[in-house]
Amino acid sequence: MRHLNLSHNQIGGSLPENIGYIMPNLLILLLGNNHINGSIPKSLCLLYWLSILDLSKNRLSGKIPDCWKDNEVWEEINLSSNKLSGAIPRSFGNLSSLLWLHLNNNSLHGEFLVSVINLKQLLILDLGENQLSGTIPSWSVNMFSSLKILRLRQNMLSGSIPLKICQLSSLQILDISCNNLNGSIPWCIGNLWGMTLEAPTLSPPSPFAESPTTTEWKTEGVIEVMKGRELDYIRILELVVMMDLSENNLVGSIPKEITLLHGLISLNLSNNHLIGELPIMMGNMRSLESFDVSSNQLSGTIPSSIYADNPYLCGSPLPKKCGYSNPVHGSSGFEDDEDSKKDKLEKWLFYFVVAAGFATGFWGIIGTLWFKKTWRHAYFRRVEDLADWIYVTTAIRKAKLKKCMMMRNRVNV
Ligand SMILES: *[C@@H]1O[C@H](CO)[C@@H](O)[C@H](O)[C@H]1NC(C)=O
Ligand SMILES: *[C@@H]1O[C@H](CO)[C@@H](O)[C@H](O)[C@H]1NC(C)=O
Ligand SMILES: *[C@@H]1O[C@H](CO)[C@@H](O)[C@H](O)[C@H]1NC(C)=O
Ligand SMILES: *[C@@H]1O[C@H](CO)[C@@H](O)[C@H](O)[C@H]1NC(C)=O
Repeated sequence: MRHLNLSHNQIGGSLPENIGYIMPNLLILLLGNNHINGSIPKSLCLLYWLSILDLSKNRLSGKIPDCWKDNEVWEEINLSSNKLSGAIPRSFGNLSSLLWLHLNNNSLHGEFLVSVINLKQLLILDLGENQLSGTIPSWSVNMFSSLKILRLRQNMLSGSIPLKICQLSSLQILDISCNNLNGSIPWCIGNLWGMTLEAPTLSPPSPFAESPTTTEWKTEGVIEVMKGRELDYIRILELVVMMDLSENNLVGSIPKEITLLHGLISLNLSNNHLIGELPIMMGNMRSLESFDVSSNQLSGTIPSSIYADNPYLCGSPLPKKCGYSNPVHGSSGFEDDEDSKKDKLEKWLFYFVVAAGFATGFWGIIGTLWFKKTWRHAYFRRVEDLADWIYVTTAIRKAKLKKCMMMRNRVNV
């Protein structure tokens, strides 16, 4: 057996302990979205040719075994949405060819390891929704240059954002929200090259850009919050460029370099302790669709340049209202407004059509008779004739009927 795909079923029970012995040639093992419980068997480490392991969306618990070996064919490990605990295994850091690592939505704790960051080819590192603590580690130069998505959302990470993060030249999604990060937003944030391009054609200056697998990365899924809604991005990932630093303890002001990130579609800095003014050149971020700086201690005015070249910008204090509904407060007034406007328009249209029909019907005849003497005469003569004819016909009928009844009565007598 080389390929085993039993994903999206209702398979329960636990994985056989000896799976590595009974199927030693497995290349692909897909068991995602089932009801599998128990722990991950150690014998999986024996599968020398394994390149894709998907055990996501199950009920697996216990620790992830720490015995993974490099085989230079590893592509993906997806253990997301289980109940796995313990630490991230150090040996993941040895899988040099790994492209995707999803460990999100588990109960992993301990530190976020440098070893994982040493994976040079990694495109997606998703460690969100766990209980990881400690700091975001710094790493040596030129590591991690292919990484497109770094998702550390909803953990217990503390310390400041390392300057090294600015060297992630391919990064398109940076989500470190809902942690305990402090310190200020690094001024070098404008160096995130992958976020500076407006067009979706992003080919980073990395030696791995040409590898065939990098074109497939966008079919992966990650969940992001944008415009207040949680979205599962699959297939359009290439088009998503966003930064979410919300719900931390970040201090200081918003570095003006952030406005160099022309490709950003969504920027969320809300629920921090940021002070100072909004960068004057905010208006340069022409791709921006959503910008949330709520619940901070910002001051000053909204820069006047901020509206320029943003024809779709909406919401207070602008007169133009926004088109998306607020999930907390139900549908916003705007949609109701829009609906009632439509209703009104339809009502008016209806009355107009009725009136127009009446006008044509009524005035088409009466109007003509009114204004044209000869037609009027002809018309009334015709009506008179018709009335005469009806009168005469009914009179004759009546007479006939009377006669008949009289005859019948006579017969009866
Ligand atoms: C595995 O099976 C699922 C469900 O039939 C299918 O959607 C998916 O494409 C399969 N994956 C592979 C790699 O064949
Ligand atoms: C990972 O690689 C390091 C050397 O780079 C080695 O010392 C260690 O034993 C390896 N770990 C495993 C689990 O193979
Ligand atoms: C891996 O898990 C993520 C959820 O984090 C899911 O969206 C994705 O489709 C999974 N990948 C595969 C190949 O099943
Ligand atoms: C910004 O982040 C906060 C907290 O994570 C979230 O509640 C809010 O919806 C986000 N804002 C937008 C516009 O997505």
